[in-house]
Amino acid sequence: MNYRHAYHAGNHADVLKHWVLTRCLALLQKKPAPLAYIDTHAGIGLYDLKGEEALKTDEWQAGIGRVWTSTHPLLADYLHAVRELNEDDELRYYPGSPEIARCLTRSQDHLHLNEKHPADGQLLKDNMRIDRRVSVHLGEGWHVPRALLPTEEKRLLMLIDPPFEEGDDLQNSVQALEESLARMRQAIVCLWYPVKDIGQLRRFYQKLEKSNAPKLLRVELYVNQPNDSSKLNGSGLVICNPPWGLEAELRELLPWLTETLQQGEGGWRLDWLIAE
Ligand SMILES: C[S@@+](CC[C@H](N)C(=O)[O-])C[C@H]1O[C@@H](n2cnc3c(N)ncnc32)[C@H](O)[C@@H]1O
Repeated sequence: MNYRHAYHAGNHADVLKHWVLTRCLALLQKKPAPLAYIDTHAGIGLYDLKGEEALKTDEWQAGIGRVWTSTHPLLADYLHAVRELNEDDELRYYPGSPEIARCLTRSQDHLHLNEKHPADGQLLKDNMRIDRRVSVHLGEGWHVPRALLPTEEKRLLMLIDPPFEEGDDLQNSVQALEESLARMRQAIVCLWYPVKDIGQLRRFYQKLEKSNAPKLLRVELYVNQPNDSSKLNGSGLVICNPPWGLEAELRELLPWLTETLQQGEGGWRLDWLIAE
């Protein structure tokens, strides 16, 4: 377990992932019924962009650094979660997915956050301790569907966001998706992945197409043409059972987001791997 998200927090891939997360949360809250949020690979929840790790890569400058001053209404929730951590106009702290979900959920909602790395898990606990709606688990992310589903709440949003430092994270993600759906067919599951090796991704899409998912929406954003598999040229999310309205919102913002985040010749795609 060498991957530390502190080196990459707020980069272009985080912007896409966290923005999609905020829209799922917003659309789900159109109904008052309680919601469960689960993060299988949660990280530490809060990142210092002027800290040693972030300074080594400065990746956030080409990510949140480029969208932070936007006034686009579809980014309002996302940027609200970022601003909550930054008292003045200087961007210094960045919320991970746990903090974004914590900031944008209601008193009736519950959060289960899982992080396997012992030191990061402790930091996550420290960062989340003020909120009684949050449970932090320090176990194996791939065991989360079996351990926590079905949830008491009928509505569930789950983020599966592994580090992809091992070759089988794509395969494990599909399995975790299938296990989750076997326990809660209506679950909304967001599965994040890097756009690097296109051949590997083709096999991943094929597996997803044959999965037990009722509906699967795929969104990808490239900051460069995806033809060098050693680089993070872009990232994607597969969203199972996306909330009504999400597809239209993605279609509206993706051209602008691509234009803003691209480093060379960027691009995006939005389509259904499994349509209804
Ligand atoms: C991409 S980061 C998560 C970022 C976070 N979801 C966010 O968006 O802010 C992946 C995290 O998974 C953790 N991790 C690695 N292997 C794991 C495993 N087998 N089970 C659970 N967590 C794991 C890493 O320590 C790292 O913090």
